[in-house]
Amino acid sequence: TLKRITMKQAKENIGQEVLIGAWVTNKRSSGKIAFIQLRDGDYYFQGIVLKNEVEPEVFEIAKSLTQETSVMFQGVIQEDTRSKLGYELLVNNIEVIGESHDYPITPKEHGTEFLMDHRHLWLRSSKQHAIMKIRNEIIRATYEFFNTQGFIKIDPPILTGSAPEGTTELFHTEYFDQEAYLSQSGQLYLEAAAMAFGKVFSFGPTFRAEKSKTRRHLIEFWMMEPEMAFMHQDESLEVQEQYVAFLVQSVLDNCDYYLDVLERDKEILKKYTQLPYDRISYDEAIELLNKNGFDDIKWGDDFGSPHETFIAKQSERPVFILNYPKAIKPFYMKEHPDRDDVVLCADMIAPEGYGEIIGGSEREVDYEKLSQQIESFGLSLDDYAWYLDLRKYGSVPHSGFGLGLERAVTWITGTEHIREASPFPRLLNRLYP
Ligand code: 4AD
Ligand code: MG
Repeated sequence: TLKRITMKQAKENIGQEVLIGAWVTNKRSSGKIAFIQLRDGDYYFQGIVLKNEVEPEVFEIAKSLTQETSVMFQGVIQEDTRSKLGYELLVNNIEVIGESHDYPITPKEHGTEFLMDHRHLWLRSSKQHAIMKIRNEIIRATYEFFNTQGFIKIDPPILTGSAPEGTTELFHTEYFDQEAYLSQSGQLYLEAAAMAFGKVFSFGPTFRAEKSKTRRHLIEFWMMEPEMAFMHQDESLEVQEQYVAFLVQSVLDNCDYYLDVLERDKEILKKYTQLPYDRISYDEAIELLNKNGFDDIKWGDDFGSPHETFIAKQSERPVFILNYPKAIKPFYMKEHPDRDDVVLCADMIAPEGYGEIIGGSEREVDYEKLSQQIESFGLSLDDYAWYLDLRKYGSVPHSGFGLGLERAVTWITGTEHIREASPFPRLLNRLYP
């Protein structure tokens, strides 16, 4: 019996007769020859059927193949210098595995809502496939980066009673006779873990019941959150820029083909691997905006996306905005040592209008200040007693940050809207499929 391979293994099987399972993406045939465009999940390649070399039924099957029919092709791997992959299959036999008629997503243009309703099929398209492959590379590179830097992965709970990022965007759920929320961030638990393990990170789903319908917001997204003991905010910024540069470099090294599918400019990406990234304070950012005709923002306001885009345009790389007003940031951020109106935090803003990709800070370690903050945010001291304990028993300076996976994927792939960075995005008004 013949061995079944995937197209990835073509190189080791040149000249061999093999079986390959695949789906038909397109087809062209004349009287004597049929070119079948195929994908096997990993690669796109071509099967060639020569009328004079195969049984007559086989050529008939080849001519009748429709888009997304699944097939088992038997044939010989040969080199093909014209294709990007470099290999094609000279077909001897074809077995149809699953027929496909009237596949909804044809090569013509479709509207976004139609494509989103067919997300379960849309994922098969070459562009969506390329985005998911790059997403996977970013996930892989994240583990590599933090594992080699001595972090251990800690998984915070998804069902929780705490609200690190404020109470307005929580998903409430029943927890037997109690109320629970879906996690907005694992940070508070990671702070506990950092006191046990030194350097920790998490990578998991987080939920925000945000009523925002923008190209940057998902209701459910994956966040990568490191937390580091004995680390101040300026040291944390160095970890952040090294991590982001490593992600971009890994995608450049390992996803060249997919960047081409997406027509992403690699020269622009290369600039993002050069460190350091610029730092600008919140105060300076407000001043810069006001000087440049943005009269819709004053000290104390949060930035909107036109503001972030303008600030990011001052550099060719991501930019850190440092030390935001205390009043617009969460309760756990450490007060600036010289001023009580700003906190030691930073957002990393991606270039090209992609906005904030990282939020992070040094954490308040003063027991009294933290208790006051919890109360002034309308949270109950009882719910956060465990968190305050961390400041009672061997507290140390510590910092951390969170990177939104889909924001990073959208930016690095140069995709217009964040919905394409998630395999099955949860959006305002969308839970299907
Ligand atoms: O700035 P955020 O809210 O920070 C935190 O949750 C901190 N507890 C992180 C930490 O210090 N451990 O969120 C962090 C990042 C943002 O910079 C953004 O990339 C992403 O998470 N993010 C979202 N991504 C998609 N859709 C949304 N609705 C997002 N909200 C935040
Ligand atoms: Mg933020």
